[in-house]
Amino acid sequence: MKKIGILTSGGDAPGMNACIRAAVRVALAEGLEISGIKWGYAGLIRGDFIPLDRRAVANIIHQGGTVLGTARSEEFRTKEGRGKAVKMCQDIGLEGLILIGGEGTFRGGTMLSQECGVNVVGVPGTIDNDCYGTDYTIGFDTAINTALEAIDRIRDTAMSHDRLFFVEVMGRDTGFIALESGIAGGAEELFIPEEPMTVDELCRRLVENFKQGKRSSIVVVAEADQPGESFHIAREVKDKTGFDSRVCILGHTQRGGSPTARDRVLASRLGAAAVQALIDGKGGCMIGEINREIAYTPLKDTWEKKKSLHAGLTTLLNALSD
Ligand code: F6P
Repeated sequence: MKKIGILTSGGDAPGMNACIRAAVRVALAEGLEISGIKWGYAGLIRGDFIPLDRRAVANIIHQGGTVLGTARSEEFRTKEGRGKAVKMCQDIGLEGLILIGGEGTFRGGTMLSQECGVNVVGVPGTIDNDCYGTDYTIGFDTAINTALEAIDRIRDTAMSHDRLFFVEVMGRDTGFIALESGIAGGAEELFIPEEPMTVDELCRRLVENFKQGKRSSIVVVAEADQPGESFHIAREVKDKTGFDSRVCILGHTQRGGSPTARDRVLASRLGAAAVQALIDGKGGCMIGEINREIAYTPLKDTWEKKKSLHAGLTTLLNALSD
């Protein structure tokens, strides 16, 4: 193998740059040429390639976002679009491709690896932590720390006003960010898709907390399918209990910022392992980390199989918040 490519796709995640840097430097040390593909699959279809050398990835390890740019490509969902991408790979002689992204990226990657002769490996980069086949995804640790910082700040003002707050975090249809930032931030209640709770049940618990002497509470809500749903929940709670509240939606603040040390180490390790996997002739798999060991999971499984929340953590949050 002489030449490989690397792209970032889907929502950006802090640590993607550290992963690009590691992949580039390991590839070059192994005597490979490596091309960066700008703007994810959209750039692959257009042939938006840039050569990468050691200097091209200098001073990016601490930066959030992705220097390659990212996008969600509708065209790549079509067989025709993927055909164009395959042709581009052939035209510039790519023999291996590293995809850094999440569920959507790996859905596309699964089809690409079936349809083209190029070895494709995925690296999990998403703040959502929802990829099966890895304990943590690149960007998750930074995102939960960003959410935590916000929750801590909100707790100050919640206490000062004896107020109920709903803090909505990202995570698409999963509650990983909500659960871990909720535990770390001492949230009183959690609203997550994996363990649905009715608003009536939430009201019952909040009233109970109030009877126990709690005057301020923080409910961490996972955005789930309906970003902004916290406003509806808050209104319903007001109607049913009379509790006044405030809503804070953290949104894209969770996607930016300098990656934590943990994310940089994970990203560096997985980027290096992805290049090694290609050299070893592996393809059609995602490179993750399970119990501190590098793990290879078929790309298809990463989005077809459901990664579960740590059951013990949800129980813990309930036990600690009483
Ligand atoms: O997948 C990462 C993520 O930040 C999700 O948590 C969120 O639902 C989604 O992306 C938001 O996407 P966009 O940036 O396209 O609004």
